[in-house]
Amino acid sequence: MTERQTNRTAQEADVVILGAGPAGLTLGNLLHTAGIDCVVLERADPERVRTRARAGFLAANTVRVLDRHGLAEGLHRRGQPHGTCEFRTDQGTFRLDYGALGRREQHTVYPQQDLVTDLLTHYLEAGGRIAFGTEAQAVQDAAGPSAVVAVRDAEGRPAHWRARYVAGCDGRHGAARRSLPPGTLRHHRDHGVTWLGLIAEAPPSLDAVGYALHPDGFAGHMPRTADLTRYYLQYAPGAPADAWSEQRIWAELDRRMRTADHGPLHHGRILQRSVIDLRSDVIEPLRHGSLLLAGDAASLPAPAAAKGANLAVLEAELLAEALVDELAHGDSRALDRYSERCLQHIWRAQEFAHWMIQFLHSPLLAPTARPEDESFFHEAMRRSRIESLRTSRTHQDWFAENYVGL
Ligand code: APR
Repeated sequence: MTERQTNRTAQEADVVILGAGPAGLTLGNLLHTAGIDCVVLERADPERVRTRARAGFLAANTVRVLDRHGLAEGLHRRGQPHGTCEFRTDQGTFRLDYGALGRREQHTVYPQQDLVTDLLTHYLEAGGRIAFGTEAQAVQDAAGPSAVVAVRDAEGRPAHWRARYVAGCDGRHGAARRSLPPGTLRHHRDHGVTWLGLIAEAPPSLDAVGYALHPDGFAGHMPRTADLTRYYLQYAPGAPADAWSEQRIWAELDRRMRTADHGPLHHGRILQRSVIDLRSDVIEPLRHGSLLLAGDAASLPAPAAAKGANLAVLEAELLAEALVDELAHGDSRALDRYSERCLQHIWRAQEFAHWMIQFLHSPLLAPTARPEDESFFHEAMRRSRIESLRTSRTHQDWFAENYVGL
C-alpha cells in the first residue's frame, strides 16, 4: 500500500466499483492485484451474492481472461466442456458440433453462482475491500476531477464514497445508469418474444444444448450441472410466471421438444421460474468523465446467445487495463478508447443475439402477426435460414465463431 492510500479516510478509494457480479468482481480482482486502491460496494449480502443462479455458459475468451489472472481454478476443476447443439425442427433434427467448427472453440458449462463465489473468495483472500449491504443511490460530480457516490450503508444510513473513478457494474437497474447525464444514448429493442425460464431439479435430457423450433413455440434445453437443467419455453407475453402448473410445463416441453421422436425429458421439481421478455439495450458512450460502465450496466444482450456474463468479463479486463495505465502510469489513452473498444464487442454480440432470436422464433406466433402482413415472407426466409445452417459448412463455421466467440 503506498503512503497516500494508508492515510486515506475509510470512505475513499481510487476506484469505487458498484456491484459484485461477474463484471464488478473480475474488475476488483484485476485492480487489486495491480496494486490499485479499490473497493466494491454491493447492496446484497454475501449469501445472496454467492447463491444467485444466473447464466452458466462461459465462452473460450472468458476462460482465457480468467486464466490470465489466476481466476479459473474452480471452472477448470468443476466446469464441463461443451461443444454441441441440437436443433429440432418439423423438418427433422440436426446437430452442430460447434467445438469442431469455426475457430474450434468450446463453451465451459459452469454455473454463474460458482464463478461469482470463486471471484469473491479470491478477492477477499487477497485482502480486497468490499462493503456488503451498501446500496449506491447516485454517482455525483462524475464530470469533475473526482466523483462522489451517495450510498445507504448496511444500517440504512446515508453515506458518501469519494473516488477518482467509479466503475458502474451494478446492472441495468443500478445507480450508475440512473446517474448518466442527459443526452446519453440508450439504443434499445424489444424483440417481441417472451420466455418462461426454468431451473429443473433434473439431470440434462440430452448431451447438447437443445433448441426446439416448434410451430407452437420455441423450447430450449441447457445443461447446468449433473442434477440441474435450464429450460426455456416461449410464453404468452404478460402471463405471470406461475400461470402454468408443473404438469403443464413438462407436457409442453415434451411436446415441443418432440420427445416421441427423441426420447423422454428427465422431469423433476421446478426450482426456479421467471418470465423473461427478450429485450436488448446498449448505452453509448460507456464513459462519462470518471464514471465508466461495464457488464449489464453497459449493455443487455437478449439471453438467446448467452453473451451477458461473457461480455461482462471481457469489459472488466479492458477497464482494468485502462485504469491501471491511467492510475499507475499516467497514461490515459486506453481509458479514452475504452467505450469505443467495448462497443465493438457489444454490437457484435447484439447482432448475433438478434440473429438467434429471429432464427429460433416463428414470426407467425407474434401477437401482431396477420396473414396479409410480411410474417409469412419472414417465416419462409427463416425456414431457408434453418436449411442453410443444416447444410452449409460455411454457415456452420460462421455460426460456431459467433456462438462461442466474442
Ligand atoms: N448498489 C450496489 N449494488 C448494486 C446496485 C446498487 N444500487 N444495484 C445492483 N447492484 C448489484 C447487484 O446486487 C449485483 O450483485 O450489482 C450486481 C450486478 O451483477 P449482475 O447483474 O450479475 O451484472 P454483471 O456483473 O454486469 O453481469 C452481467 O451476468 O448475471 C449474469 O448473464 C447475466 O448478463 C448478466 C451478466
